Amino acid sequence: MSLFQLLLVTSLSSTIAWIAYSWVCLLLNYLKARKVGIPIRVVLISHGNPFWILVDRKVVSLFKRLPFGNGNFTRYNWRGWEVEDRYRSHLEMGDVYMQVTPDKNWLYVCDPEALMDIFRRRSDFPRPLEIYEMLNVFGPNLLTVEGHQWKQQRKITSTCFNEQTNEIVWSESAYLANDMLRYWASKELVKSAADDIRTFSLHVLSKAGFGKSYKFHGHDESPATSPATSYKESLKVVLENCILIMALGTEFLSKPWLPQRLRRVHQACVSFQKYMTEVYEDEKRAFRNEKSIHRNIMTSLIRASHEEALTSGGLTEKEIYGNLFVLNFAGHDTTAHTLTFAVMFLAANPAVQDWLSEELHHVLGDRRPDDWKYGSDFPRLKRCIAVLMETVRLYTPVPVAKWTEKRAQTLKVGNNTITIPPETMVIPSYAAIHTHPGYWGPDALSWRPSRWIAKPSTSLRSFDDEDIISPQRGAFIPWSEGERSCPGKKFSQVEFVAAIAGLFRDWRVDPIQQRGETLEGAQARVLELIHKDSAQALLLRMLHPERAPLVWRRR
Ligand code: HEM
Ligand SMILES: *[C@@H]1O[C@H](CO)[C@@H](O)[C@H](O)[C@H]1NC(C)=O
Ligand SMILES: *[C@@H]1O[C@H](CO)[C@@H](O)[C@H](O)[C@H]1NC(C)=O
Repeated sequence: MSLFQLLLVTSLSSTIAWIAYSWVCLLLNYLKARKVGIPIRVVLISHGNPFWILVDRKVVSLFKRLPFGNGNFTRYNWRGWEVEDRYRSHLEMGDVYMQVTPDKNWLYVCDPEALMDIFRRRSDFPRPLEIYEMLNVFGPNLLTVEGHQWKQQRKITSTCFNEQTNEIVWSESAYLANDMLRYWASKELVKSAADDIRTFSLHVLSKAGFGKSYKFHGHDESPATSPATSYKESLKVVLENCILIMALGTEFLSKPWLPQRLRRVHQACVSFQKYMTEVYEDEKRAFRNEKSIHRNIMTSLIRASHEEALTSGGLTEKEIYGNLFVLNFAGHDTTAHTLTFAVMFLAANPAVQDWLSEELHHVLGDRRPDDWKYGSDFPRLKRCIAVLMETVRLYTPVPVAKWTEKRAQTLKVGNNTITIPPETMVIPSYAAIHTHPGYWGPDALSWRPSRWIAKPSTSLRSFDDEDIISPQRGAFIPWSEGERSCPGKKFSQVEFVAAIAGLFRDWRVDPIQQRGETLEGAQARVLELIHKDSAQALLLRMLHPERAPLVWRRR
């Protein structure tokens, strides 16, 4: 036998062995799932299979073209199927069903009370930490720990999410949105909205997190700084490459023989770490001398940690770095992708833009952005909040996963109580519960922000009576619920509203019409693009928003 044949035989036989092994696991999981007594769907390839993650969408779209291609495989076996499926599976199978995979069983829940129960029972349904382990690059943090350690970290980090931070987020966002708008308005056609919005969100974070303010620069305007010289640029490179960094590790990235691109990523990690260490040392000194000059998330974190250390033990230096990184990680693309979806939806819905502008003129008058007040203006901008709620309802950026870990758990769903086996993933079906006609009415799938407004005004005098409705508890969970819900919820709301205010009070946006297309046709095309182009890449986002160029005009 030649070497080639030998290799072929070994790789073939190990592939066959692997397939056989995973199907034995599938069978065992199936038997476990049957005992629960709820509907079952079998998924042939595990959702977490790293090879499959790279090719799933392509393979599934190939299969869909085949005559038998409309089965459960093409329906469920790819990342992001939830958003395409919406509430259909739950209508077919009820409020709870199980997906059996070769790795774990995945329980999908679409019942508000059961969901609230899951969120409340934090130690019965912990976070499956192995998925998040990669996020430990700069140190242990909120997303990667559980139990007592998490409680301690959460208590200290919570002190950073206060009204002072929100005020900074408000004014920085208003200021940056104005500059972003000026850039967009200077162009005949804007293809870079998603990119520019990511820059916007990065700048808000560097101001709130580190106290560093940067001038906005658009997609075609090159920044004057390099990763080695600016905190923001190094953070940007770190965030843009975080999957790479997590996969390879900072240790490996420091190897001198790596290609230039990877070395640049390494440099960014080093300089980001250097900035954090510098501020840490400065603030430690300031704390000893009982004076602190700056107010931002980093300094509050250090301060709160020192204060806590006097009584019950604070964060370690590594934990502070880990958490600063994770706040940036969790706060960057979440808000950026949401704002991109919202701008696209608004471009397709000029009437909603008019409706927003009406509120913005009523509340802000002709005041300049630096004169907009967080305390008195933000709470009155309910239509702006409604646009955010409606956008995250349909395009929920963060998928939440819990699991049962080592113990079986019982859960009441409707009139039945089920027993969930150990090692079962427990998934809030956000895409289903957010669109279920039972909770959202017959037009649940339409993007209609006014559904969020109670007592809609009929005249300018009743404007301030408008109120945001509160959906049934558990039926709206984009920021999750319970103790482990998103600490950045208000942060993201303030950032989003200030951005919308900056963009839409005096300006309007339209899609660029293609040759022979009416404006209505272009709007319909944008809606279609939002629907077809959104995909789960870590977070849910539009993959190619540049395919619908936009144009901004003064009202
Ligand atoms: C539209 C914007 C946002 C959405 C929809 C969102 C959603 C979520 C969700 C669903 C979780 C829970 C994840 C899980 O249980 O697995 C979460 C956690 C978290 N979010 Fe957000 N988030 C947003 C913005 C932000 C911002 C702006 C920040 C910080 C500046 C932030 C910081 C965090 C942190 C630190 C956690 C982990 C909390 C913990 O485990 O204790 N998020 N977010
Ligand atoms: C999907 O799986 C279920 C349960 O195994 C089965 O009843 C159903 O017919 C399948 N659907 C298709 C289209 O094959
Ligand atoms: C639960 O039981 C009550 C009382 O027997 C009944 O009215 C209700 O329709 C049941 N709910 C479901 C979802 O079956």
